[in-house]
Order: sequence, then C-alpha cells, then structure tokens
Amino acid sequence: MEDFEVTPWKASGDINYEKLIKKFGVSPITDSMKQLIKDVFGEIPLEVRRGIFFSHRDLDKVLKDFKEGRKPYLYTGRGPSGPMHIGHALPLIFTRKLQEKFDTFVLLQFTSDEKFLYNPELGPEQVYNYTFDNIRDVLALGFDPDKTYVIEDFRHIKYLYQIAVSVAKRITYSIVRAVFGFTNETNIGMLFFASIQAAPAFLGYFMDDVYNCLIPAAIDQDPYWRVARDVAVKIKLPKPTQIHGKLLPGLKKDVKMSSSVPESAIYLSDDRKRVKKKLMNAFTGGQPTVELQRKKGGNPSICVVFDYYKFLFEEDDKALKERYERCRAGELLCGECKMDLVDRVSRFLENHQKTKASIKDKDIERVMIDNKIDLHSLVNEFKMLR
Ligand code: TRP
Repeated sequence: MEDFEVTPWKASGDINYEKLIKKFGVSPITDSMKQLIKDVFGEIPLEVRRGIFFSHRDLDKVLKDFKEGRKPYLYTGRGPSGPMHIGHALPLIFTRKLQEKFDTFVLLQFTSDEKFLYNPELGPEQVYNYTFDNIRDVLALGFDPDKTYVIEDFRHIKYLYQIAVSVAKRITYSIVRAVFGFTNETNIGMLFFASIQAAPAFLGYFMDDVYNCLIPAAIDQDPYWRVARDVAVKIKLPKPTQIHGKLLPGLKKDVKMSSSVPESAIYLSDDRKRVKKKLMNAFTGGQPTVELQRKKGGNPSICVVFDYYKFLFEEDDKALKERYERCRAGELLCGECKMDLVDRVSRFLENHQKTKASIKDKDIERVMIDNKIDLHSLVNEFKMLR
C-alpha cells in the first residue's frame, strides 16, 4: 500500500508526483520541453515554470504541429458536486491561458451525470443547481465566449452520445475495473460514464479543422484519458493529449481541498472574514514560537501558505523567491505572511464575485453548445464513426 491515493473521486495522503508519473506512465515536463514551450509561446507560463503543471502525454506533438500551423483544440471540465473552491479554479485558469496562446476553441464539460451517479445522496435538482452555479464561476474566470462551448451532460447528451457509444463498444468491463478500481457493487452508470467523459476528447474533430485535442486537467483525471487513448486507435481518431496539474493542497496537512471538508478549502464565494479565519488556521512550516522562528527560520517547502503564493497568488518569480528566503532566514513571521495572503485572496475573490454577478442568463445561453452548433450537421459527420 502507498501512503497516498489519487483517483478521479478521491485524493489523500502526501502525494508523491514523481511516483505518480511512473505509476500512470506519463512523461515529466523536462527542461527541453520547457524550451520547446518557450520557442512556441515566447514564454513559459507560470504554472509550467513552477512545476504546477508537471507532466504530459504527447505535448511535444501538439507544440510541433502548432508551430507548423496545425491547431489543437482544448478540452477540460468540471464535476458539479458542490460549490467551487480555488483548487478547482486552478486548471481552468491555466486552460484559459492556453486558449489565448493557441488561439483556439475550448470544450468545457460539466458532468452533472457523473456526480449524480457517483453520489447516492445527490438528487438531480441539486446537481442542476450546482451545475449552473459552477458554469457561472467558470465563465467568470474569463474564457472567450466566442471560442467556448459548454457541454452540460444532461442537456447536451445528443452531442456526445454517438461518440460515447462508439467508445463504449471498445471498452470491456475488465479494463474499467482495472483502471478505475470498479467492483461488483459499482453501478453500471459509472461504467458507461467513462465513455461520456471520453467523448469531448473526440468531438472537436467533427466541429472544426483541428489536429489534436489537448486536455489540461489535474492528474487525478488521468484514468479517463488512458482509456480514451486506447480507444482512439480503434475508432481511427487522434489520441487525446494531456498536460497534467498538481492538486492544490488543502489548508490542513495532507488533504486536498475538498468539498466534503469545508474548512480545508477556500470557496470562490467566501468573504474576507471567512478567508481570514481559514488562512489563520492553515498549516504552515512555521516554528511553534516567534523566538524559535527568528532563530531557526520557517520551512516554506512544507508550508501550505507558501504553496498558495506559489500556485496562484504571487505572479512575480523574484518576489516569490524573496519570500522563501526571508522565511528561511527567520525574517518573515507567519502572521505577516498570512495576512498578506488574506489580502490577496480576498481581492481575487471580490473581483471574481463581481464578475460572476455580472454574468447574465443570456451570457450562459450564448456559450451553450446547442446554441452554437447545429446538431443535424454533426450527426451527418458522425456517420464516419466506427
Ligand atoms: N470528472 C471531472 C470532475 O469530476 C469533470 C471533467 C469532465 C473533466 N471532463 C473533464 C475534468 C475534462 C478535466 C478534463 O471534476
């Protein structure tokens, strides 16, 4: 048994990402890959520079194709199991940046069905409420509405179904059992769902002239892509490619930000008072007393507060390094460091909440896939599916 666990539905323990790279059979983002990214984009995005997006499959192919004028499309998603926290926003913010860099369209899948199937307590009405609240949050992160297609599984299944069935035809029970750890008690909806999440990884080819599907997502979603890549060859479509992110650590030690542990997470809807309370109680690398901290310095490498600066709230590499060093030297005390973070997080959230409130129903309708592409033309294209 490992001392950590990462599945699409659960993450716990002190996650060792190097081990995950080996276990999942993905490739680390090496220095030469970073150089390639720089060649193509003119810079290395913060998330890659800092190792927050740290592994991939076939990203080199995507970048080389792009360099030669062959565009990818992007695909990512959100499982609406509750209100969103800043950990959920991380891969979406990165996806939005990639959308700008590649100047391409993005498919955003909201898996209301997955969450309904997985959680015995969740009724359709509640999932629906979360779904529309989450869509508002995601749009508020700044996706270009002209190049964004929202797929809400319940409402838009027609756009996915034929691809999903072709995919499902090539996945056996023994494969999903092995990849996802399903058991005899798992409901059959969950088995089929693997092909619903795979479908948008192929849908883009029927929509536009694109060469690759690049999926930016947290590494916990990887089992879905493993299955989808195996199937791609069989249905004669390109294998979906990925760039994988780390999970934002929770405020308490060794728990991922989780909707089921409210104090572990900062929600996109939190006000300053809540943010302050949560951050003041967060796990840090500080010493038990001020005297010891002055004498020995803190340990930013294990500090959740420092992680938040690194993952989201300090854009400037130099300032981040200075913060690290001042902590190590015992110059910066946890109280000051936390208060500074409270300010930054609250400012971010206030802006976010304002933007979210300004999103109208018609703005949501505008990005819904059924209002953007005609199903009949797609169905015609689907005829080539095997
Ligand atoms: N299963 C994901 C979740 O629970 C949602 C999702 C659907 C997704 N498609 C995706 C996430 C593509 C990343 C990329 O959050």
